[in-house]
Amino acid sequence: MFQTRLTQLFGMRLPVLGGGMMWLSDARYVAALARAGALGFVTPRSYDDPAAFRAAMRECREASDGRPFGVNITQSRRAEENRMVPEWIDIGLEEGARCFETVGPSPKELFDRIHAGGARVIHKCAFIPHALKAQDAGADAIALVGCEAGGHPGTNELPTFVLGALALERLRVPLALGGGIGTGRQIAAALAMGADAVLMGTRFLVCEEIWAHDDYKRHLAMQPAEASTLALQSTGHPWRVLDNATVRCTRAMEAKGASRYPDFGALSTGRLGRDSAYARGDWNTGLLSMGPSIGFADRIEPVDAVLRRLMDDAAAGAAHLRALAGASTSPTSHP
Ligand SMILES: Cc1cc2nc3c(=O)[nH]c(=O)nc-3n(C[C@H](O)[C@H](O)[C@H](O)COP(=O)(O)O)c2cc1C
Repeated sequence: MFQTRLTQLFGMRLPVLGGGMMWLSDARYVAALARAGALGFVTPRSYDDPAAFRAAMRECREASDGRPFGVNITQSRRAEENRMVPEWIDIGLEEGARCFETVGPSPKELFDRIHAGGARVIHKCAFIPHALKAQDAGADAIALVGCEAGGHPGTNELPTFVLGALALERLRVPLALGGGIGTGRQIAAALAMGADAVLMGTRFLVCEEIWAHDDYKRHLAMQPAEASTLALQSTGHPWRVLDNATVRCTRAMEAKGASRYPDFGALSTGRLGRDSAYARGDWNTGLLSMGPSIGFADRIEPVDAVLRRLMDDAAAGAAHLRALAGASTSPTSHP
Protein backbone atom coordinates (compact mmCIF):
# COMPACT_ATOMS: atom_id res chain seq x y z
CA MET A 1 0.00 0.00 0.00
CA PHE A 2 1.16 3.57 -0.75
CA GLN A 3 4.14 2.84 -2.93
CA THR A 4 5.65 6.17 -3.96
CA ARG A 5 8.78 7.50 -5.64
CA LEU A 6 10.34 7.81 -2.18
CA THR A 7 9.53 4.32 -0.97
CA GLN A 8 11.17 3.10 -4.18
CA LEU A 9 14.16 5.43 -3.89
CA PHE A 10 14.96 4.50 -0.30
CA GLY A 11 13.58 0.97 -0.28
CA MET A 12 11.30 1.36 2.71
CA ARG A 13 7.86 -0.25 3.01
CA LEU A 14 5.97 2.80 4.30
CA PRO A 15 6.01 6.40 3.04
CA VAL A 16 7.19 7.60 6.46
CA LEU A 17 10.53 9.13 7.46
CA GLY A 18 11.52 9.61 11.10
CA GLY A 19 13.53 12.84 10.90
CA GLY A 20 16.80 12.82 12.87
CA MET A 21 16.35 13.93 16.48
CA MET A 22 19.40 15.19 18.36
CA TRP A 23 20.33 12.94 21.35
CA LEU A 24 17.38 10.64 20.64
CA SER A 25 17.85 9.13 17.17
CA ASP A 26 20.12 6.34 18.34
CA ALA A 27 20.59 2.79 17.06
CA ARG A 28 17.66 1.35 18.99
CA TYR A 29 15.10 3.91 17.80
CA VAL A 30 16.30 4.04 14.18
CA ALA A 31 16.39 0.24 13.95
CA ALA A 32 12.85 0.08 15.36
CA LEU A 33 11.68 2.45 12.61
CA ALA A 34 13.46 0.29 10.02
CA ARG A 35 11.90 -2.96 11.25
CA ALA A 36 8.47 -1.33 11.26
CA GLY A 37 8.90 -0.32 7.59
CA ALA A 38 9.79 3.37 7.99
CA LEU A 39 13.17 5.07 7.61
CA GLY A 40 15.09 6.79 10.40
CA PHE A 41 18.37 8.66 10.62
CA VAL A 42 21.03 8.28 13.33
CA THR A 43 22.38 11.68 14.49
CA PRO A 44 26.22 11.59 14.65
CA ARG A 45 26.33 14.85 16.62
CA SER A 46 24.77 13.00 19.54
CA TYR A 47 27.96 10.94 20.01
CA ASP A 48 31.11 11.98 21.83
CA ASP A 49 33.48 10.82 19.09
CA PRO A 50 33.60 9.02 15.73
CA ALA A 51 34.23 5.65 17.37
CA ALA A 52 31.03 5.92 19.41
CA PHE A 53 29.09 6.91 16.28
CA ARG A 54 30.56 3.97 14.36
CA ALA A 55 29.56 1.59 17.17
CA ALA A 56 26.00 2.97 17.04
CA MET A 57 25.87 2.44 13.27
CA ARG A 58 26.97 -1.18 13.69
CA GLU A 59 24.37 -1.76 16.37
CA CYS A 60 21.74 -0.17 14.13
CA ARG A 61 22.66 -2.38 11.18
CA GLU A 62 22.52 -5.53 13.29
CA ALA A 63 19.11 -4.62 14.70
CA SER A 64 17.55 -3.47 11.41
CA ASP A 65 16.94 -6.93 9.94
CA GLY A 66 18.35 -5.89 6.58
CA ARG A 67 15.96 -2.94 6.25
CA PRO A 68 17.30 0.47 5.19
CA PHE A 69 18.45 2.99 7.80
CA GLY A 70 20.10 6.39 7.43
CA VAL A 71 22.31 9.11 8.88
CA ASN A 72 21.30 12.70 9.62
CA ILE A 73 23.89 15.30 8.69
CA THR A 74 22.88 18.50 10.47
CA GLN A 75 25.29 21.25 9.50
CA SER A 76 25.82 24.19 11.79
CA ARG A 77 25.71 27.85 10.82
CA ARG A 78 29.24 27.98 12.24
CA ALA A 79 31.66 26.42 9.71
CA GLU A 80 34.08 25.25 12.43
CA GLU A 81 31.37 22.96 13.79
CA ASN A 82 31.12 21.15 10.45
CA ARG A 83 34.66 19.77 10.39
CA MET A 84 33.42 16.26 11.14
CA VAL A 85 30.85 16.13 8.34
CA PRO A 86 33.03 14.26 5.78
CA GLU A 87 34.06 11.70 8.41
CA TRP A 88 30.44 11.15 9.52
CA ILE A 89 29.43 10.54 5.91
CA ASP A 90 32.29 8.08 5.40
CA ILE A 91 31.52 6.18 8.60
CA GLY A 92 27.84 6.03 7.66
CA LEU A 93 28.68 4.64 4.23
CA GLU A 94 31.20 2.13 5.61
CA GLU A 95 28.66 0.87 8.13
CA GLY A 96 25.87 0.32 5.63
CA ALA A 97 23.76 3.51 5.58
CA ARG A 98 22.28 4.00 2.13
CA CYS A 99 20.23 7.11 2.91
CA PHE A 100 21.33 10.49 4.26
CA GLU A 101 19.18 13.33 5.52
CA THR A 102 21.14 16.56 5.10
CA VAL A 103 20.30 19.92 6.67
CA GLY A 104 21.92 23.34 6.19
CA PRO A 105 24.11 24.31 3.23
CA SER A 106 23.72 22.17 0.11
CA PRO A 107 26.96 22.34 -1.91
CA LYS A 108 27.35 19.87 -4.77
CA GLU A 109 30.41 18.30 -3.05
CA LEU A 110 28.26 17.19 -0.12
CA PHE A 111 25.89 15.26 -2.38
CA ASP A 112 28.74 14.01 -4.60
CA ARG A 113 30.46 12.43 -1.58
CA ILE A 114 27.29 10.60 -0.60
CA HIS A 115 26.57 9.48 -4.16
CA ALA A 116 30.15 8.27 -4.64
CA GLY A 117 29.55 5.89 -1.74
CA GLY A 118 26.45 4.49 -3.44
CA ALA A 119 23.91 6.19 -1.17
CA ARG A 120 20.97 8.55 -1.73
CA VAL A 121 20.28 11.88 -0.09
CA ILE A 122 17.20 13.78 0.98
CA HIS A 123 17.88 17.43 1.78
CA LYS A 124 15.68 18.94 4.48
CA CYS A 125 14.87 22.64 4.49
CA ALA A 126 12.13 25.14 5.27
CA PHE A 127 12.19 27.38 2.20
CA ILE A 128 11.35 26.56 -1.43
CA PRO A 129 14.35 28.47 -2.86
CA HIS A 130 16.63 26.33 -0.67
CA ALA A 131 14.86 23.20 -1.90
CA LEU A 132 15.34 24.23 -5.54
CA LYS A 133 19.02 24.98 -4.89
CA ALA A 134 19.54 21.55 -3.32
CA GLN A 135 17.70 19.89 -6.19
CA ASP A 136 20.00 21.64 -8.68
CA ALA A 137 23.06 20.60 -6.64
CA GLY A 138 22.09 16.94 -6.91
CA ALA A 139 19.83 16.05 -3.97
CA ASP A 140 17.78 12.96 -4.84
CA ALA A 141 14.79 14.17 -2.84
CA ILE A 142 13.65 17.08 -0.70
CA ALA A 143 12.03 17.17 2.72
CA LEU A 144 10.22 20.43 3.38
CA VAL A 145 9.21 21.31 6.91
CA GLY A 146 6.58 23.88 7.78
CA CYS A 147 6.61 26.24 10.73
CA GLU A 148 4.87 23.60 12.88
CA ALA A 149 7.96 21.39 12.92
CA GLY A 150 9.56 20.58 16.27
CA GLY A 151 13.18 21.71 16.66
CA HIS A 152 14.65 24.42 14.44
CA PRO A 153 12.21 25.09 11.59
CA GLY A 154 14.03 28.34 10.74
CA THR A 155 12.32 31.66 10.19
CA ASN A 156 9.84 30.30 7.67
CA GLU A 157 6.29 31.18 8.73
CA LEU A 158 4.45 29.04 6.18
CA PRO A 159 2.53 26.04 7.49
CA THR A 160 3.35 22.59 6.13
CA PHE A 161 0.42 22.24 3.74
CA VAL A 162 0.86 25.69 2.18
CA LEU A 163 4.58 25.12 1.75
CA GLY A 164 3.99 21.65 0.33
CA ALA A 165 1.37 22.74 -2.20
CA LEU A 166 3.60 25.56 -3.41
CA ALA A 167 6.65 23.30 -3.62
CA LEU A 168 4.85 20.61 -5.58
CA GLU A 169 4.30 23.12 -8.39
CA ARG A 170 8.04 23.65 -8.73
CA LEU A 171 10.01 20.59 -7.59
CA ARG A 172 11.05 17.81 -9.93
CA VAL A 173 12.49 15.36 -7.36
CA PRO A 174 10.35 13.46 -4.81
CA LEU A 175 9.08 15.44 -1.83
CA ALA A 176 8.56 14.48 1.81
CA LEU A 177 6.44 16.85 3.86
CA GLY A 178 6.98 17.41 7.56
CA GLY A 179 5.85 19.59 10.42
CA GLY A 180 2.81 18.97 12.58
CA ILE A 181 2.01 15.58 11.10
CA GLY A 182 0.88 13.02 13.65
CA THR A 183 -2.16 11.20 12.27
CA GLY A 184 -2.81 8.79 9.45
CA ARG A 185 -5.40 11.09 7.90
CA GLN A 186 -2.72 13.77 7.56
CA ILE A 187 -0.49 11.19 5.87
CA ALA A 188 -3.29 10.37 3.43
CA ALA A 189 -3.84 14.09 2.82
CA ALA A 190 -0.13 14.69 2.12
CA LEU A 191 -0.05 11.79 -0.34
CA ALA A 192 -3.33 12.88 -1.95
CA MET A 193 -1.81 16.31 -2.47
CA GLY A 194 1.13 14.75 -4.32
CA ALA A 195 3.84 14.35 -1.66
CA ASP A 196 5.85 11.13 -1.80
CA ALA A 197 6.17 10.66 1.97
CA VAL A 198 5.78 12.39 5.29
CA LEU A 199 8.57 13.20 7.72
CA MET A 200 7.78 13.09 11.42
CA GLY A 201 9.63 13.70 14.66
CA THR A 202 7.47 14.87 17.53
CA ARG A 203 4.84 12.12 17.20
CA PHE A 204 7.51 9.50 17.90
CA LEU A 205 8.89 11.18 21.05
CA VAL A 206 6.75 9.03 23.33
CA CYS A 207 7.76 5.73 21.74
CA GLU A 208 9.10 2.98 23.95
CA GLU A 209 12.34 2.82 21.95
CA ILE A 210 13.14 6.50 22.65
CA TRP A 211 15.62 6.31 25.53
CA ALA A 212 14.32 9.45 27.31
CA HIS A 213 13.06 9.03 30.89
CA ASP A 214 9.53 7.64 31.25
CA ASP A 215 8.50 10.63 33.41
CA TYR A 216 9.33 12.89 30.48
CA LYS A 217 7.45 10.74 27.98
CA ARG A 218 4.45 10.44 30.33
CA HIS A 219 4.39 14.25 30.61
CA LEU A 220 4.51 14.62 26.82
CA ALA A 221 1.73 12.09 26.33
CA MET A 222 -0.56 14.36 28.38
CA GLN A 223 0.23 17.56 26.45
CA PRO A 224 -2.19 19.26 24.06
CA ALA A 225 -0.99 20.71 20.76
CA GLU A 226 -0.86 24.14 22.43
CA ALA A 227 2.02 23.03 24.67
CA SER A 228 4.37 23.68 21.75
CA THR A 229 5.82 27.17 21.54
CA LEU A 230 8.60 29.12 19.84
CA ALA A 231 11.57 30.03 22.02
CA LEU A 232 14.51 32.38 21.36
CA GLN A 233 12.67 34.32 18.66
CA SER A 234 14.80 37.39 19.43
CA THR A 235 17.85 35.59 18.06
CA GLY A 236 16.40 35.22 14.56
CA HIS A 237 16.83 31.44 14.93
CA PRO A 238 13.66 30.32 16.69
CA TRP A 239 13.40 26.95 18.37
CA ARG A 240 10.06 25.08 18.53
CA VAL A 241 9.91 23.47 21.96
CA LEU A 242 7.82 22.30 24.90
CA ASP A 243 6.50 25.28 26.88
CA ASN A 244 8.19 25.02 30.29
CA ALA A 245 10.04 26.97 32.99
CA THR A 246 13.19 27.34 30.87
CA VAL A 247 11.17 28.95 28.06
CA ARG A 248 9.67 31.41 30.53
CA CYS A 249 13.14 32.17 31.85
CA THR A 250 14.50 32.88 28.35
CA ARG A 251 11.53 35.18 27.68
CA ALA A 252 12.33 37.15 30.83
CA MET A 253 15.93 37.46 29.61
CA GLU A 254 14.73 38.62 26.18
CA ALA A 255 12.61 41.29 27.88
CA LYS A 256 15.86 42.55 29.40
CA GLY A 257 17.66 42.62 26.04
CA ALA A 258 19.11 39.14 25.47
CA SER A 259 19.06 38.46 21.72
CA ARG A 260 22.03 36.24 20.83
CA TYR A 261 22.38 32.54 21.67
CA PRO A 262 25.38 33.15 23.98
CA ASP A 263 23.29 35.67 25.95
CA PHE A 264 21.25 32.75 27.28
CA GLY A 265 24.27 30.80 28.52
CA ALA A 266 23.61 27.15 29.37
CA LEU A 267 19.86 27.63 28.88
CA SER A 268 20.25 27.66 25.09
CA THR A 269 22.27 24.45 24.92
CA GLY A 270 20.75 21.12 23.98
CA ARG A 271 22.85 19.42 26.65
CA LEU A 272 20.78 20.96 29.45
CA GLY A 273 17.63 19.30 28.13
CA ARG A 274 19.45 16.03 27.55
CA ASP A 275 20.82 15.90 31.11
CA SER A 276 17.63 17.12 32.81
CA ALA A 277 14.55 16.07 30.86
CA TYR A 278 15.82 13.12 28.83
CA ALA A 279 18.10 11.63 31.47
CA ARG A 280 16.14 12.45 34.64
CA GLY A 281 12.59 13.23 33.53
CA ASP A 282 12.71 16.86 34.66
CA TRP A 283 10.58 18.30 31.86
CA ASN A 284 10.75 21.84 33.24
CA THR A 285 14.46 22.22 32.53
CA GLY A 286 16.02 22.81 29.12
CA LEU A 287 14.75 23.85 25.70
CA LEU A 288 13.14 20.63 24.53
CA SER A 289 12.37 20.29 20.82
CA MET A 290 8.70 19.49 20.32
CA GLY A 291 5.97 20.51 17.86
CA PRO A 292 2.17 20.67 18.16
CA SER A 293 1.71 17.14 16.82
CA ILE A 294 2.44 16.10 20.40
CA GLY A 295 -1.33 16.54 20.76
CA PHE A 296 -1.74 13.29 18.81
CA ALA A 297 0.54 11.28 21.14
CA ASP A 298 -1.44 9.95 24.06
CA ARG A 299 0.47 6.90 25.30
CA ILE A 300 3.89 5.30 25.48
CA GLU A 301 4.02 2.39 23.05
CA PRO A 302 6.41 0.75 20.57
CA VAL A 303 7.25 2.42 17.26
CA ASP A 304 5.68 -0.51 15.45
CA ALA A 305 2.29 0.02 17.17
CA VAL A 306 2.29 3.76 16.38
CA LEU A 307 3.09 3.11 12.73
CA ARG A 308 0.48 0.38 12.39
CA ARG A 309 -2.24 2.71 13.70
CA LEU A 310 -1.01 5.57 11.53
CA MET A 311 -1.13 3.44 8.41
CA ASP A 312 -4.56 2.00 9.24
CA ASP A 313 -5.85 5.56 9.62
CA ALA A 314 -4.10 6.61 6.40
CA ALA A 315 -5.81 3.74 4.59
CA ALA A 316 -9.17 4.87 6.03
CA GLY A 317 -8.44 8.42 4.84
CA ALA A 318 -7.59 7.16 1.35
CA ALA A 319 -10.76 5.02 1.26
CA HIS A 320 -12.81 8.06 2.31
CA LEU A 321 -11.35 10.06 -0.57
CA ARG A 322 -12.00 7.22 -3.04
CA ALA A 323 -15.60 6.97 -1.82
CA LEU A 324 -16.09 10.73 -2.26
CA ALA A 325 -14.63 10.60 -5.77
CA GLY A 326 -16.81 7.57 -6.60
CA ALA A 327 -19.91 9.24 -5.20
CA SER A 328 -19.40 12.39 -7.23
CA THR A 329 -18.90 10.50 -10.50
CA SER A 330 -21.62 7.89 -9.94
CA PRO A 331 -24.63 8.49 -12.21
CA THR A 332 -26.97 7.26 -9.46
CA SER A 333 -25.73 9.69 -6.82
CA HIS A 334 -27.18 12.76 -8.58
CA PRO A 335 -30.69 11.83 -9.67
C1 LIG B 1 13.44 16.23 19.84
C2 LIG B 1 13.75 16.67 18.44
C3 LIG B 1 15.07 16.82 18.06
C4 LIG B 1 15.37 17.18 16.74
N1 LIG B 1 16.69 17.27 16.34
C5 LIG B 1 16.98 17.46 15.03
C6 LIG B 1 18.32 17.39 14.56
O1 LIG B 1 19.27 17.21 15.33
N2 LIG B 1 18.55 17.54 13.23
C7 LIG B 1 17.52 17.73 12.34
O2 LIG B 1 17.75 17.80 11.13
N3 LIG B 1 16.24 17.86 12.76
C8 LIG B 1 15.95 17.69 14.07
N4 LIG B 1 14.65 17.73 14.48
C9 LIG B 1 13.57 17.93 13.48
C10 LIG B 1 13.03 16.59 12.98
O3 LIG B 1 13.99 15.86 12.29
C11 LIG B 1 11.84 16.82 12.02
O4 LIG B 1 12.25 17.64 10.94
C12 LIG B 1 10.65 17.47 12.74
O5 LIG B 1 10.50 16.87 14.00
C13 LIG B 1 9.38 17.30 11.94
O6 LIG B 1 8.32 18.02 12.51
P1 LIG B 1 7.35 17.41 13.68
O7 LIG B 1 8.18 17.49 14.93
O8 LIG B 1 6.23 18.37 13.68
O9 LIG B 1 6.99 16.02 13.31
C14 LIG B 1 14.33 17.43 15.81
C15 LIG B 1 13.00 17.33 16.24
C16 LIG B 1 12.70 16.95 17.53
C17 LIG B 1 11.26 16.83 17.94
